[in-house]
Amino acid sequence: MSISQSPVQLIDHLGREHLRHALGRDVRTGMAATPKWLPPKWFYDEAGSDLFSRITRLPEYYPTRRELAILRRQALDIAVRSGADTLVELGSGTGEKTVLLLDALSARGTLRAYTPVDVDAATLGDAARRFASRYRGLVVRAICADFETHLALLPRTGRRMVAFLGGTVGNLAPEPRGAFLRELRATLCPGDSLLLGADLVKDPRRLVAAYDDAAGVTAAFNRNVLRVINRELGAGFEPEAFEHVALYDERHEWIEMRLRASRAMRVPIPGLGLRVSFAAGEEIRTEISAKFRIGGLRRELTAAGFRMECHYTDPIGDFALVLARV
Ligand code: SAH
Ligand code: TRP
Repeated sequence: MSISQSPVQLIDHLGREHLRHALGRDVRTGMAATPKWLPPKWFYDEAGSDLFSRITRLPEYYPTRRELAILRRQALDIAVRSGADTLVELGSGTGEKTVLLLDALSARGTLRAYTPVDVDAATLGDAARRFASRYRGLVVRAICADFETHLALLPRTGRRMVAFLGGTVGNLAPEPRGAFLRELRATLCPGDSLLLGADLVKDPRRLVAAYDDAAGVTAAFNRNVLRVINRELGAGFEPEAFEHVALYDERHEWIEMRLRASRAMRVPIPGLGLRVSFAAGEEIRTEISAKFRIGGLRRELTAAGFRMECHYTDPIGDFALVLARV
């Protein structure tokens, strides 16, 4: 390490044993339910994060490009309005868009610290080291944690802006989403802000294509959750025996991702002492991705104790970034 390199701290609130325990609990609950379901955070081991990076470059997956376009135009305005010296990023992934925010905060001369938070330790560590070498003097405190359960453990120093990008907030169902926003609000102080990325309601054909690409990358990503369960719990899922399904639920205005058993089967999960039966055509729900309207976002943020200061969209109106204050 060179002397000019910024310090990197890695704090792990998860750990392999904790993960295995939490995964076991979720799989036990989800496989006993009707319909069966699995929480989406288990997509993201190192292979899952790589597949997600490939998704962001697919022609059909517009959200990343739209959010990047908004940030390119508005990062400086966001930096000025937030007045932040500390950027906390939830579900930070590779941090591809984060550069734009850090550049803007750095140009204003206020930037001091960056705290990326993610469940995938490998991707988190890579990003943390990359950012520490890019911004001289930046304090990088990377936290491997679950943003649904560990918000209270995040550092509270500095004037913070919490960025939650990529539309990941839409992967939470309405009720847990409300709880998440209230908990996040409770960790913030006057002067802190929230930058929330949300995918907007649009033509269902474009939505479905974004979650069911022609090259099959999203299908591989969806099946990755079965590989994670096989590895961590010794399970015998045959990922290829499950078909990737993406459909748009018009009433709830969300995309639903499922894995459909192509035939009847019994899957052993030795780590849980379980055998799970599937009927032919039976589905596991693996994710929702809610699509928003500005009015709905404002209501949800207000209900959680935030004040929506302003919002930015791309010229086509595909995606929104909302800046909210406490
Ligand atoms: N922010 C990036 C990545 C979005 S993908 C972007 O906009 O492109 C969602 C990210 O959130 C992944 O990196 C995943 O590992 C992480 N993630 C998903 N559920 C999580 C949870 N419960 N707690 C922390 N991180 C989570
Ligand atoms: N936050 C992303 C989204 O909802 C995650 C995502 C994109 C995703 N494509 C996916 C999750 C496919 C599961 C399957 O847009």
